Amino acid sequence: MPIKIAPSILSADFCDLPNLIGLLEKGKADDLHLDIMDGHFVPNITFGPPVVRSIRKITKFPLDAHLMVENPEFFFDDFAAAGARSITVHAEACRHLHRVVQTIKKTGLRAGVALNPATPLQVLDFLLADLDLVLVMTVNPGWGGQEFISGMLHKIRELREMLIRSGSQADLQVDGGINRDNVKAVVEAGANHLVIGSALLREENPVAALHEYRLAAKA
Ligand code: DX5
Ligand code: ZN
Repeated sequence: MPIKIAPSILSADFCDLPNLIGLLEKGKADDLHLDIMDGHFVPNITFGPPVVRSIRKITKFPLDAHLMVENPEFFFDDFAAAGARSITVHAEACRHLHRVVQTIKKTGLRAGVALNPATPLQVLDFLLADLDLVLVMTVNPGWGGQEFISGMLHKIRELREMLIRSGSQADLQVDGGINRDNVKAVVEAGANHLVIGSALLREENPVAALHEYRLAAKA
């Protein structure tokens, strides 16, 4: 499976976004990961559909909205209208996860489910066939710049086996603490869609860094 790199702009200077997004385009990132936090599901707040609409105007990147919010279904239409291509909800935030996933799909978007580090993969047992993306959180959600939880490598491996067994083509996305030191290990474990936030934004030359991440992932 080809490796996709999704820079997270969570730790960016938002006044400098056009410049940053230009660099990410030059570095041939695959899509943009947008972290939406509501101050309830996670103890932090970020931004909502109006900002996504502004980002939509300045780039052709597919926009991947990672909703770390309660009642995510309240917002699907707004994110779709703002130009998101995919929506990922947290299993822990959805009492009726199956229904929520069908609602994302009815909205015409790609559907993803994210799992916090302590959430077992079994919540996906009766859902995998409906998903375009499964996101294994490799930190507890809430902030950029946290340390990768190495125990998640095992979870990534198990999920890759589940996807193969079920014949699913869903992306296996990892998010949190991905950096030059662990990128090879997460890919070897089975991830094919890498969210990279602060480690990439810290780079002096993000264009070259994107290229190097891709090489490291293939090595
Ligand atoms: C964490 C977010 C991540 C975060 C990743 O709650 O979901 O997308 O921005 O940033 P880094 O790569 O800095 O952990
Ligand atoms: Zn995220």
